Amino acid sequence: MIFRDRSHCGLLGPSDVGKEVVLAGWVDALRDHGEVLFVHLRDRSGIVQVVFSPESSGEEVCALAGGLKGEYCVHVRGRVVKRMEGTENPGIVTGGIEVAAKELTILSKAGALPFQISEKSMMAGVSTKRDEAVAEDLRLQYRYLDLRRPTMQDHLIKRHRVVKTVRDFLDEQGFIEVETPMLTKSTPEGARDYLVPSRHYPKNFYALPQSPQLFKQLLMVSGMERYFQIVRCFRDEDLRPNRQPEFTQLDLEASFIDEEFLYALFEELSVRMFRIGGIELPRPYPRMTWLDAMNSTGSDRPDLRFGMTFKDAADIFSGTSYGIFKQILGRGGCIKGINVKGQSERLSKNVLQNEYAKEIVPGFGAKGMTWMRVVEEGLESNIVQFFSDFERQEILSRFEAEKGDVILMIADPSWSLVCSALGQLRLHLADRLGLIPAGLFCPLWVTDFPLFDATEQGVTSSHHPFTMPDRTDFDPENIEELLSLKSRAYDLVMNGEELGGGSIRINDRTLQNRIFKALGLSDTDVEEKFGFFLKALEYGAPPHGGIALGVDRVVAMILGTSSIREVIAFPKNRSAFCPLTEALPP
Ligand code: AMO
Repeated sequence: MIFRDRSHCGLLGPSDVGKEVVLAGWVDALRDHGEVLFVHLRDRSGIVQVVFSPESSGEEVCALAGGLKGEYCVHVRGRVVKRMEGTENPGIVTGGIEVAAKELTILSKAGALPFQISEKSMMAGVSTKRDEAVAEDLRLQYRYLDLRRPTMQDHLIKRHRVVKTVRDFLDEQGFIEVETPMLTKSTPEGARDYLVPSRHYPKNFYALPQSPQLFKQLLMVSGMERYFQIVRCFRDEDLRPNRQPEFTQLDLEASFIDEEFLYALFEELSVRMFRIGGIELPRPYPRMTWLDAMNSTGSDRPDLRFGMTFKDAADIFSGTSYGIFKQILGRGGCIKGINVKGQSERLSKNVLQNEYAKEIVPGFGAKGMTWMRVVEEGLESNIVQFFSDFERQEILSRFEAEKGDVILMIADPSWSLVCSALGQLRLHLADRLGLIPAGLFCPLWVTDFPLFDATEQGVTSSHHPFTMPDRTDFDPENIEELLSLKSRAYDLVMNGEELGGGSIRINDRTLQNRIFKALGLSDTDVEEKFGFFLKALEYGAPPHGGIALGVDRVVAMILGTSSIREVIAFPKNRSAFCPLTEALPP
């Protein structure tokens, strides 16, 4: 048995007809025709049909082949032959040929399979695509079998290509990859740390990095100028389909640059990454301030694949006699609405009132929802009689409404509540009414984030505390002023998902200290947590900035998978548990 001259199943073709080949792989599927046995042999490159018949293989080899079962690992020697007309299988790339086996060695047997691995039918035109209903935990428990499936192999191969594209491109641009420690001190990214106990220092712990943020900034102080790293990060946070406790970032930092440098670099880089999946991203990427994003879509990661953007309606009702709106506006509140174009047939009065106004929208945190259907005579709804002619007319023109449209409004004293509830409603309707076109990719930069978010005690950083504010003359004890500051931070957003985020950093110790003060950290806290970092800022720290992309999220988006777990070889399940190794037991 010689592997040296091995050919690859999926690469055989008509030009190999007549050649003797050596193949090694797994039995994907079998079809027994009495005298003749057909086997789909699979390796990483694909599938080829191998035929065992008394004429070409001999009695002994046929007898051995008769014992083959799915996923046996085998070695085959045989001759490539053209398939007889009418027996070709267009479902596999090599479907025009087959291999007439002469020798067979069983390298390793396989037991009963926990689920089907084969994805290709031996019968032309019949689909045997894996039953999607296989429980994910079972797939994860037998991940080594799950990963044998061509779909999963393709995910990992494409992921490799995406990462290689990143490395090649950044190398061309003068970036060098530097590794930073995994056993380290806490880096604040808003999650909790995973801790590793030390044997040398009992009762002491290292923290696994939430990101290499401080190290990449230290590398700028070191004069590395252009750094990147494909790096594992660890965050103990609430689980969601697009989150894993450990995940991979493309982390990057550069000195003597500004936002425009990073926007241009990451547009080119992400365009190249998406091309691996055959996707051509539209350029240049539009930009939207955080405030515009919130005001028009109620989200800091707007999905621009469809319309239904918000219109402000407060001014229409400034003199209204409609009690609820009057009261809300009297408290300085806000009224916003959307036009669900041409959907009145699908959004009946009953659905709008009993499903949306009473159930769905209160679930998004709003007290209620005002709905209006646009009919021949104007507006139709349960409250429209309370609106003046002027108000009705203004609504129709503000929302550019036509017969068949549905106008929905949410009013509340809190601007952020209106944005958030209407934003969730917008997404809910787009999904339910099928308004999101398939195959569309809408990247954008979200900019001008607030530097701080309000907390019960004061403020917290909305990105992280090393982000440069838009102005530096603030009073760190004036909460109102702090909440009005913008940051020089930016997110790369696509189709409603945050793919990456970064900022221009503070490179001045005094300013960094004032930010810590604004965050309510005592001098002792600052010294203990960040003393080493602040000291570095005293030694000629250059102006710098950077960004990190979530590699798992980008690859999942390129491949259109339902969760990032599909593009990670050995992910944790939805409950941060690994069914394969049983780390950690539930
Ligand atoms: P941030 O916290 O925004 O920034 O993270 C950057 C990107 O990492 C991805 N990401 C995740 N992916 C999977 N699972 C998770 N739990 C998870 N958490 C984050 C997202 C996110 O956009 N140090 C800064 C970057 C910088 O300022 O340069 C940082 O880590 O795609």
